[in-house]
Amino acid sequence: MLSGDYLLEMRDIHKSFGAVRAVQSVDLVLGRGEILGLLGDNAAGKSTLMKILTAFHKPDRGKIYVEGQEVHIHTPGDARRLGIEMIYQDFSLAPNLSIADNIFLGRELTKDFLGMRFIDRKRMEEKAKSAMSVTNIRLDSVKTIVTDLSGGQRQAVAIARATAFDAKVIIMDEPTASLSVKTIPPLLDLMVHLRDQGISMIFISHRIQDVFSTCDRVMVLRRGKCVGVAYTQDTTVDEVTSLIAGTQKTFGKNAQHFNPVGLEEYDA
Ligand SMILES: Nc1ncnc2c1ncn2[C@@H]1O[C@H](COP(=O)(O)OP(=O)(O)O)[C@@H](O)[C@H]1O
Ligand SMILES: [Mg+2]
Repeated sequence: MLSGDYLLEMRDIHKSFGAVRAVQSVDLVLGRGEILGLLGDNAAGKSTLMKILTAFHKPDRGKIYVEGQEVHIHTPGDARRLGIEMIYQDFSLAPNLSIADNIFLGRELTKDFLGMRFIDRKRMEEKAKSAMSVTNIRLDSVKTIVTDLSGGQRQAVAIARATAFDAKVIIMDEPTASLSVKTIPPLLDLMVHLRDQGISMIFISHRIQDVFSTCDRVMVLRRGKCVGVAYTQDTTVDEVTSLIAGTQKTFGKNAQHFNPVGLEEYDA
């Protein structure tokens, strides 16, 4: 496939912390309206790779392309302008602020009146309401304070915040880790719902079943290296588990055609 056919490409990414080679020569591609599962044991390099996309880390080497154009992501604002949003495990919400205020935190809408600039609370509340409606999670009001929300509702606010600004790629790093078990299925449904609206996602989770029920493709990292990529339908939970543990070296031949380790055959 040609560059430009992908929404997002990371090519030959390297990142070390002192002697720790956290990410080594990793290639990651993401299609439009696709959910990619990023799997790997603890310390495999998943979070480091994703934090490069939001400028939390600067790669030692490698290039990033969005819609075929090389991009330079130096600040979180750069990532946001490119439509890349990260949802953290703790959702990073301000507990004492309302849903609407959280959605617009740091990018408040303003209006000018008599030469002065004011926060446009009404427009923020309207836009917050429509962003929340995308999540299909029922709420009484976007004026509700975050402290009064359940874990699942907080998750929805974090997702609404990402989608309110035309996110193209939403990265979810262990989003279910701080959720109660009963709020996980609605989150997975929401991911599929967003995907069907054309939003691409990268989903990191230890719950391999969740990855299989939502993701179009899976990519496995081991000790900082990519050990394989496969369409979910071409592999199994057992195979992925063996790959994560290192008891199997790469995906079976069904999945070989989507192995970006050998880029030449992959680009053919
Ligand atoms: N800020 C950091 N400073 C030093 N080492 C780090 C830092 N972030 C991650 N690492 C190391 O990089 C490796 C990969 O970590 P990480 O990307 O968090 O893995 P994962 O998310 O797959 O569990 C680990 O060995 C970890 O200790
Ligand atoms: Mg991590």
